[in-house]
Amino acid sequence: MSDRPLAVITGASAGIGATFARKLAQRGYDLVLIARREDRLRALAAELAETYHIDVSPIPADLAAEDDLERVAGHVQNAPRLRLLVNNAGFGTLGFFQEADVRRQMQMHRLHVLAITRLTHAALVNMAPRRAGAVINVSSVAAFMIGAGNVSYCATKAWINAFTQGLALELSAKKSPVKMQALCPGFVLSEFHDVLGMDRAPVPKSFWLTADFVVEQSLLGLDAGRLFVIPGLRYKMTVFALRWLPDPILRRIARFMSRRRRPKK
Ligand SMILES: NC(=O)c1ccc[n+]([C@@H]2O[C@H](COP(=O)([O-])OP(=O)(O)OC[C@H]3O[C@@H](n4cnc5c(N)ncnc54)[C@H](OP(=O)(O)O)[C@@H]3O)[C@@H](O)[C@H]2O)c1
Repeated sequence: MSDRPLAVITGASAGIGATFARKLAQRGYDLVLIARREDRLRALAAELAETYHIDVSPIPADLAAEDDLERVAGHVQNAPRLRLLVNNAGFGTLGFFQEADVRRQMQMHRLHVLAITRLTHAALVNMAPRRAGAVINVSSVAAFMIGAGNVSYCATKAWINAFTQGLALELSAKKSPVKMQALCPGFVLSEFHDVLGMDRAPVPKSFWLTADFVVEQSLLGLDAGRLFVIPGLRYKMTVFALRWLPDPILRRIARFMSRRRRPKK
């Protein structure tokens, strides 16, 4: 029977989630990998188990579906060696709110808000009495923006930041050593923009981060007990400006951006 710490990672079939799986395997964690694409999860699980001699369990699940979410929450709540939950599964949508597919936006709220609420609750019920563990919620720099053409994404990511910060306050009020982190990357090279159907070309090359760099920064931030991790100096400065610019100037920038992003008639 393993005595290694256990990490549960959602959205582990691609991009940032798969990179978390690789880096945590290197750090000696056993893993539970969650996403919808079972073939991808099984291939990654087999590779990591063989390379790092750890236990890896793939659990196929659609976290936007209530039954699947409850099943995964049961695993999270009852795993005795749980030390880390990474709430990473997510996606974006394109287009103005009233014109974009409303079902897709409802699905985004279920995944970014309800699944994170349920799984974080399960993790804290498990970790708090053991006085050990951490939750990383993958947010975005979009959490700090007013995003015309991107409203549900920005709103759900802003919720993730507020939720994570609130829980960190509660845990510190209880003098709990359990840590919270909101990871807020800018543009990351992954399958995200393929799923979104967005052309990467207009975004300058220097803006793109690798998933490897983002996850490394997250784990260093976790070691240092950082609540907000914003990988890369460019994005740290962007968030600093977004937080401190006066509201009227922010609104003017948002109006300008929204004119540029409005679909052509
Ligand atoms: N890429 C960026 O530029 C960027 C920037 C900032 C923040 N982020 C955030 O980073 C996180 C990871 O994104 P990524 O860039 O790694 O994108 P990605 O390569 O598209 O990976 C997304 C992951 O989420 C999983 N997923 C999507 N819907 C799911 C559902 N209903 N149930 C379970 N799993 C689901 C996908 O797996 P299946 O399809 O197999 O289910 C996949 O493993 C997201 O929360 C995203 O918002 C990304």
